[in-house]
Amino acid sequence: MKRTIRDVDVRGKKVVLRVDFNVPVQEGKVADDTRIKEALPTIRYLLDNGARVIILSHLGRPKNREPEFSLKPVYEKLKEYIDKVSFVPDCVGDEVERKVQELKDGEAVLLENVRFYKEETKNDPEFARRLASLGEIYVNDAFATAHRAHASTHGIAGFMERKVAGFLMEKEIKYLSHVLKSDERPFTVILGGAKISTKLGVIKNLLSRADKILLGGAMIFTFFRSQGIEVGKSLVEEEMLDEARRILSDAGKKEITFILPVDVVVADKPEEGVKTEVVSKNEIPQDKMGLDIGPVTRRIFQEALKGSKVIFWNGPMGLFEVPPFDEGSKSIAQAIVEETKKGAISVAGGGDTAACIHKLGLSGFTHISTGGGASMEFIAGEKLPGIEVLEDA
Ligand code: 3PG
Repeated sequence: MKRTIRDVDVRGKKVVLRVDFNVPVQEGKVADDTRIKEALPTIRYLLDNGARVIILSHLGRPKNREPEFSLKPVYEKLKEYIDKVSFVPDCVGDEVERKVQELKDGEAVLLENVRFYKEETKNDPEFARRLASLGEIYVNDAFATAHRAHASTHGIAGFMERKVAGFLMEKEIKYLSHVLKSDERPFTVILGGAKISTKLGVIKNLLSRADKILLGGAMIFTFFRSQGIEVGKSLVEEEMLDEARRILSDAGKKEITFILPVDVVVADKPEEGVKTEVVSKNEIPQDKMGLDIGPVTRRIFQEALKGSKVIFWNGPMGLFEVPPFDEGSKSIAQAIVEETKKGAISVAGGGDTAACIHKLGLSGFTHISTGGGASMEFIAGEKLPGIEVLEDA
């Protein structure tokens, strides 16, 4: 475990807090403030305990200070939750230093996008030192950026004596570690999404830990094709066919229940209102594409989930953005919530998965990770630079 803000005396101290406020902004307004809300317990704790808080974040991948990557809209949103917060349109320099000196105990300032400096993503030591010089204690609550070794997530820690985790970081590590380390059985994994290539590490790591792996999403068509099954116009990653065969063969050698769908929902094209049809996996018409798992598969998956003690879900079961292809994801998500009510620890990770759960309006998971790439790398068993640099408990 890592030391957290509970382990340091923050009163009267300048705390440099890295958060992940990389949120969707549409027409100058924050479209989904989940990541902002998730950082509030840490910000409030620091303010309530008399810290002077300097908040750093990135937004998007700016190339040249494009205004659409400004954190100003995030500041407008943050103000709705936190009274004593101000904004400076830069993250280093005279204006920032002046503002930081003026901060009083229990006040915060949000600085402009750290990626407006190319030194950030290069983990430039001089830039990291300048960021570090703004405060006395470094707190990283940006789990979703912890897989990046950047100046504000990694380099900065080398210049700070105290470097601890915030509450969101602590919660993410706790639940994602539970998925990887818990002895409670059965441990059931549901994997979906479009591509095998983006989750190879996750699949391989979980193959040696899970009792059951249920597969959905468009990646099933690459598995089907690797078994010689015709998949019509469905998405196939040709370059992953060998890998898919290898995964199936590895799964066959282990004592693991590995379930691929038996039926799928197909249509001419991935659009709302098109005519759909349910077919067996062996009867996908040549001119149609598979866009969701079928009703028989949903029941099989629901049965397989029953009695699980630990559940990890990554990746939608179908094209959830376009109804009715969200039905498969909905039925699985509901089944996970049911098992959670009975005592299972359920963790969802990956950007699409969180978006899918929010779109379905479901609550009742034990933990929904704020991380996309970060939660994938964590579950793949990799070490995350932004976590590694923090003090061990
Ligand atoms: C994310 O949304 O996954 C994080 O904020 C990291 O963003 P990045 O992929 O641009 O580094």
